Amino acid sequence: MQVTINVNGEDRTAEVEPRHLLVRFLRDDLGLTGTHWGCDTSNCGTCVVLYDGEPVKSCTMLAAMAAGHRVRTVESLETADGLDPVQQGFIEQHGLQCGFCTPGMMLTARALLDRDPDPTDQEIREAISGQLCRCTGYLNIVRAVRWAAHHPTEATVTAGASAGSTP
Ligand code: FES
Ligand code: FES
Repeated sequence: MQVTINVNGEDRTAEVEPRHLLVRFLRDDLGLTGTHWGCDTSNCGTCVVLYDGEPVKSCTMLAAMAAGHRVRTVESLETADGLDPVQQGFIEQHGLQCGFCTPGMMLTARALLDRDPDPTDQEIREAISGQLCRCTGYLNIVRAVRWAAHHPTEATVTAGASAGSTP
């Protein structure tokens, strides 16, 4: 079957099997490898993308279910103006080590800040509670999101140095 999904502001079409997962569509069909796949049990949350603005685990959704909807991946965070404040926050507050969980964490943070520009630490912790970080711990991730909340217009042009956009 053919599906068309608006990904990062652009309509993208591919021929897929009905059982094809959204995470596979993004990674394998579109080459957007910033969306990571870390488990087979829907537990880790490293595959989180924004679906019509809300964080979803892309390993739990079929590509066909996303047809006609808007999906945003980590590759969209950096723009011509520079890094998203969330990306800058992860750099400033050392919010990552291996970076595997980072794309999903940053997208959840972006959705949270779009909804609530000044969340409490507890609200940040609740927002990321469905996502696991295997190495950093959560303190610096919370600090990174708080930093972004306090620097909402911060944009640093660092072409090619996006936090968390690596395969
Ligand atoms: S890959 Fe682990 S929850 Fe999706
Ligand atoms: S930074 Fe390694 S899993 Fe989170």
